[in-house]
Amino acid sequence: MEIVILPSAAEVGRVAASVVAEVVVRKPEAVLGLATGSSPLAIYEELARRADAGELDFSRVRGFALDEYVGLDYGHPESYHAVIDRTVTRPLGLAPALVAVPDGFAADLAAACAAYEAAIDAAGGIDVQILGIGGNGHIGFNEPTSSLASRTRIKTLTPKTREDNARFFDSPEAVPTHCVTQGLGTILRARRLVLVAQGENKAEAIAAAVEGPLSASCPASVLQLHEHATVIIDEAAASRLRNADYYRYTWANKPAWQRY
Ligand code: F6R
Repeated sequence: MEIVILPSAAEVGRVAASVVAEVVVRKPEAVLGLATGSSPLAIYEELARRADAGELDFSRVRGFALDEYVGLDYGHPESYHAVIDRTVTRPLGLAPALVAVPDGFAADLAAACAAYEAAIDAAGGIDVQILGIGGNGHIGFNEPTSSLASRTRIKTLTPKTREDNARFFDSPEAVPTHCVTQGLGTILRARRLVLVAQGENKAEAIAAAVEGPLSASCPASVLQLHEHATVIIDEAAASRLRNADYYRYTWANKPAWQRY
């Protein structure tokens, strides 16, 4: 894994956006894996800025969201259909028909999950997957004990995740109890992974993911199995890393032509 520690949350967004931009410039019909939540917002804002400036063209780019709540009306502003539309599809200028979000309403959710996996395969697989991380180490909504080989499926949200996401809803009870999420095995199949985290409340999860054992107890530790994963974090999120100095040294000495 490549660990990039940056002075500010804004820098995290800028550098992570550059990773995505590099892929889109090289491959205008690239397939992006899209996380929701607060962490990737700075990436999307920076990519939108570059699209507005005419530096990037997302009109042929495809997108697959990581997850969706089960049974939350798509008209609800916190449904991930609505969030992806508001924070990604419109600002970046993706074609809505090329953006997919898991179906949280299908009569046969298992079949819809299988169809989502098939759609990712039919698109040629994900070129770059953007990830945030939960305070409990989840990626997507793969909560602790998720199979490291899992595929898109229904999951029960932990009380911790519902509590963390209560800030987006009127009350903690309004947070849905279930979701559909790409699996850890699905995420591992992406060609490139970029995980971003900002803030002290992510420090423990980042330390477990980067320096802890590979374990379903910290689902994000599965990144250790990927051949091209980059973790981009601010100083606060890096504060529990034992080898932070080594990561800073590696980044500072990275050849300029390899920088994002
Ligand atoms: C959402 C997702 C989650 C979030 C994580 C962090 O699509 O995949 O794993 O990335 O819960 O959320 P924030 O960024 O809001 O702290």
